[in-house]
Amino acid sequence: SAAEKGGWPSFMDKEIHEDPEAVANTLLGRFDAKGDIVLDEVRIEPEVLRSIDRIVVVACGTASYAGLVARYAIEHWVRIPVEVELAHEFRYRDPILTPRTLVVAISQSGETMDTLMAIRHAREQGSRVLAICNTQGASIPRESDAVLYTHAGPEIAVASTKAFVAQIVAAYLLGLYFAQIKGTMFRDEIHHIVQQLRSMPEKIQWVLDTQADTVNRTATHMVNARSFLFLGRHVGYPVALEGALKLKEIAYTFTEGFAAGELKHGPIALVDAGEPVVVIVPSSRGRSTLHNKVVSGIEEVKARGAYTIVVAEEGDPDAERYADAVFWRPVCSTLLSPLVDVVPLQLFAMDMAMLKGYDVDKPRNLAKSVTVE
Ligand code: G6P
Repeated sequence: SAAEKGGWPSFMDKEIHEDPEAVANTLLGRFDAKGDIVLDEVRIEPEVLRSIDRIVVVACGTASYAGLVARYAIEHWVRIPVEVELAHEFRYRDPILTPRTLVVAISQSGETMDTLMAIRHAREQGSRVLAICNTQGASIPRESDAVLYTHAGPEIAVASTKAFVAQIVAAYLLGLYFAQIKGTMFRDEIHHIVQQLRSMPEKIQWVLDTQADTVNRTATHMVNARSFLFLGRHVGYPVALEGALKLKEIAYTFTEGFAAGELKHGPIALVDAGEPVVVIVPSSRGRSTLHNKVVSGIEEVKARGAYTIVVAEEGDPDAERYADAVFWRPVCSTLLSPLVDVVPLQLFAMDMAMLKGYDVDKPRNLAKSVTVE
């Protein structure tokens, strides 16, 4: 009903605007007075956690992209291999699982049958399972050894938005907790990242407040486009995949997300005059090689006539050079940038779907939670 939407035209609109709150609430109560991470709910003893030598994330759809983002951070912080696998592929290829493997199931609903079957298999093989879930008492957390709840609040729109940012935050907390327990990072470093995480809600709010008009104008301009390519590198790669998925799900547009480095290995063949290409540009600070490579990717598609939509850090002069439209992100660390970069892409998909007259909350053929295999 209109009242449930709290004045927003759709649940999706409301939920995108709850991204900042979803991040803030997922951080709430997860630190002690000294600023150390306390995850009491993760009832796996520290000795057991210390023995974990590999993490396998299983998930479907948007949740799997949160896993892909987390992989970059957790491997960097904890120095143990992290694999991310679609839950429905995982079980059928005789995956290697040991008591030292931690399987992390990410699921907003906690009822996705493919993910549930994957964790059952993992537990049968003697691995421990931790669920990152947004729904108290759902099947996946019930059948897991431990659970870390995202506190995004109920998500009604079929296309996942606020749950995605909350999943990234929860997975990051888990990674930092591991780093704390295993001693792979200095306490100060962990505290520093926690501080940065705590500043993300206001950065997301800034994007919502200042970029929505540009996003809407760009959507209006591109509403008749038949296909979109999304490119990103490093953590921008899963953001590209998620941006592509959102647009496909609710605006029924053919989209593909690619790792920007793959451009020359295939996707560039698709680019001709007017083809919209969305590019997530990493910060130019610190990681200039990555930044330069992504920028030259924009230059290449632009040279072939692409319509370029760029997500870039405020004040990045290179990003603008070959861009037809820019969605700005406030300055933030690279590993945390997906939390802001996905926001204009969520808005963009919603605007496109609205402009085409579709029901953004209930896209055709899709279910909020798929409880069959
Ligand atoms: C369905 C939804 C997607 C969601 C996926 C995983 O396909 O339409 O939006 O990402 O399921 O759902 P889960 O509840 O496990 O996160």
